Amino acid sequence: MSVTEARVEKIGTDEATGYSSYRFGSFTFSRDEYFAHVSWPRGNHIIEIDRFLRAMVRDIGWGFFYGWIFFDDIFGTTNHYGTVDVFAGTYDRGCKEAGIDFLETYSAEAVSEAFETISKDWISEGYDPLNAPLETGSPIGPKGKERTDPLLRSFIAADRMLGLPGDKSVRTEEDGFGINRAFADMEFDQPDIECEPGFEGQLHAINLFDHIARSDITWNPSISAITRANICCVTSEEHMLPVIHGNDRNEWFIQLTDEIHWNIADKNSGAPRGRVVMKAGDVCAMPADIRHQGFAPKRSMLMVMENGTPGLEQRYASGELKPYPVKFEA
Ligand SMILES: [Fe+2]
Repeated sequence: MSVTEARVEKIGTDEATGYSSYRFGSFTFSRDEYFAHVSWPRGNHIIEIDRFLRAMVRDIGWGFFYGWIFFDDIFGTTNHYGTVDVFAGTYDRGCKEAGIDFLETYSAEAVSEAFETISKDWISEGYDPLNAPLETGSPIGPKGKERTDPLLRSFIAADRMLGLPGDKSVRTEEDGFGINRAFADMEFDQPDIECEPGFEGQLHAINLFDHIARSDITWNPSISAITRANICCVTSEEHMLPVIHGNDRNEWFIQLTDEIHWNIADKNSGAPRGRVVMKAGDVCAMPADIRHQGFAPKRSMLMVMENGTPGLEQRYASGELKPYPVKFEA
């Protein structure tokens, strides 16, 4: 894989809308009041601006995540952990057959810088792509006032058990994190903690539902528990996952409340493979060879378990490991 040396550069500013256009490697990015336009040497593509921005800020915030992030069926990124592919049409049968697909590989840092520069220019005050659509404004229209609050909120790993002295990650009313409107009917009893003498400050328990109910963002884990390569993310999900995720390893989902509908397709061709409706209490393992997108009609709570072991993606890609974790015999 050859890595293209590239840095994002501004190539102009539209006087009517106030938005700038950018070149990054062989790609150019521009936006108008409704759409993002992406072009590359053999083609170009148009994406509705809300979808584009909701995907882009998550892609940066997740550090390009595991495997493939499709902004839509055509455009996206693939994480090689250090380098990142930016692709257009590479995993779309129609584009492949028409010969207009294109892919370039850059350092992860250069892609981060490019996406951050574009997002900052194209997002104005009053619109937060990490919020549920019902809880934020619209990105449609000309450029507005620049946002001053943090635009990007990435994975934060808890330093220690949430709520223990020294932990600053647990969400509380006092920190300004109220219970989300969607969870107003839930009860949030706090656990009783009876600690043996000598273990004070080491044993603790929280109501995890209470913590998740206070998350102000969607499809983005606010706090993650990370123990070596084991990553546990709890998130609140509402509306649709703004990207289609192509797995490069298994990924476990535990549906904690309400329901999420998943569209599951072949990772390479996009051909449909299944529809899964997960309801509270359901557990599933998304295989390593699929792409998937979730739809949450009402805000719901999801726990995602990831295996961050380095090199695991190659063991799945080579076929050494089966794409699913368990085989059930008939
Ligand atoms: Fe996934």
